[in-house]
Amino acid sequence: MKPALTRDDITLAPYQTDRDHDAVTRMLQHAFAGDREGIEGWMKIGGEANFRTLLDSSRPAATLLRIPMGQYFGGRSVKMLGIAGVAVAPEDRGRGYAKRMMRACVQAAHEESWPLVGLYASTHSLYRAVGFEHAGHRFQYTIPMTQIDAGPHDRERVEPLDPDSTELRECYAGFAARYDGMLDRGAYIWQRVKSPRNEEHHPFGVRDEHGTLQGYVFVNQKRRPDGRADVNLSDFVFHTPAAGRRLWALLADYSMMSHDLVFFGGPTHPALLLLSQQRYSVENKDSWLIRVSHMKAALEARGYAPCVRTQVHLDVSDDLVPANAGRWTLSIENGQGRAEPGGRGEIRVDARGLAAIYAGFLTPSQAASVGLASGDHAALHAANSAFAGGTPWMNDFF
Ligand SMILES: CC(C)(COP(=O)(O)OP(=O)(O)OC[C@H]1O[C@@H](n2cnc3c(N)ncnc32)[C@H](O)[C@@H]1OP(=O)(O)O)[C@@H](O)C(=O)NCCC(=O)NCCS
Repeated sequence: MKPALTRDDITLAPYQTDRDHDAVTRMLQHAFAGDREGIEGWMKIGGEANFRTLLDSSRPAATLLRIPMGQYFGGRSVKMLGIAGVAVAPEDRGRGYAKRMMRACVQAAHEESWPLVGLYASTHSLYRAVGFEHAGHRFQYTIPMTQIDAGPHDRERVEPLDPDSTELRECYAGFAARYDGMLDRGAYIWQRVKSPRNEEHHPFGVRDEHGTLQGYVFVNQKRRPDGRADVNLSDFVFHTPAAGRRLWALLADYSMMSHDLVFFGGPTHPALLLLSQQRYSVENKDSWLIRVSHMKAALEARGYAPCVRTQVHLDVSDDLVPANAGRWTLSIENGQGRAEPGGRGEIRVDARGLAAIYAGFLTPSQAASVGLASGDHAALHAANSAFAGGTPWMNDFF
């Protein structure tokens, strides 16, 4: 491991167009194999005010994009600062700039009271070194279109939707809150649902007999050389089995001119449970990571199972954010957590262990078995139910 880059003339600063534009565009081009026009378009979508530049003296040496949003845990939306576009110019790599930038990013998130920071990683060691840990899944599902049940067409009504409508956003929120790890999307993520990689996806909704929106899909078709298409979904959301089945029937109606249906979920997606045949393939595209940047805010913002009434006594080590460190007592009652300094410190975790446990990705006992927590067997076991929910996942990528 190389020594940390500790000079104090290296700082993380808000992006300034006149100073940073050429250098940052170039870093991003080399990092993500983009052309200049594409990168500039993407920076506009991200919002220049959300970029940060790592300055070595006054020279731009690295960059990242901050994406304000939230993430559902225990049925409640926890504010989460997403990170994307982490880039260092090829000639500057291997000198510690990225690690220095991520340290500063986590510390800034803490100072701004963001409970969580989240990202997808191209190299896990970089992010683990600053306290991120695996926290959830994202899998790609591919189903031959001919394997989809045609299903009923008659009762529920399907119609094209306005992608920006409030009812669509509310329909998503009600669905997402049921699954740990799903994003509480901001404008940047919604843009990616509507038009990932500039490929427009069209929303179709299904209503119940009262006219209430009970589900929707965002559909895109990508032609193959033989003239038939693959059907890609950027969202597949529903509240009732009838709505889910009607959406499957809508998709089956594309099968005449299509090969495969592709969409994303966790270790499963609820829509798959409505299929009579489980004839799809699964590819593990990615797992995502979180970092608990503000201990108290994070523990108190997430929801907990209402039937759990307990205290968890944590002993946290966190060199990067000293305010997170030390003993904490988490008291859980009526689905709400309260975190106060002090207590018996029965479960020892560092920032990485805390992240995995917080998300419900690992129970405290499981975390102990991979060296991410330690403590007395009984204390670990007793705490297992505190953070339990489903297996965390999201269908979005950022
Ligand atoms: C990833 C990237 C940002 C790293 O920048 P960097 O300034 O070279 O990284 P650092 O020198 O700070 O190294 C930090 C850690 O990253 C990891 N890392 C760096 N280069 C790596 C490589 N080529 N392969 C695997 N891991 C690497 C190492 O764990 C390293 O820590 P260590 O040397 O103490 O083990 C840079 O290589 C880059 O811009 N890559 C292309 C874009 C990208 O992958 N961005 C991240 C998207 S999540």
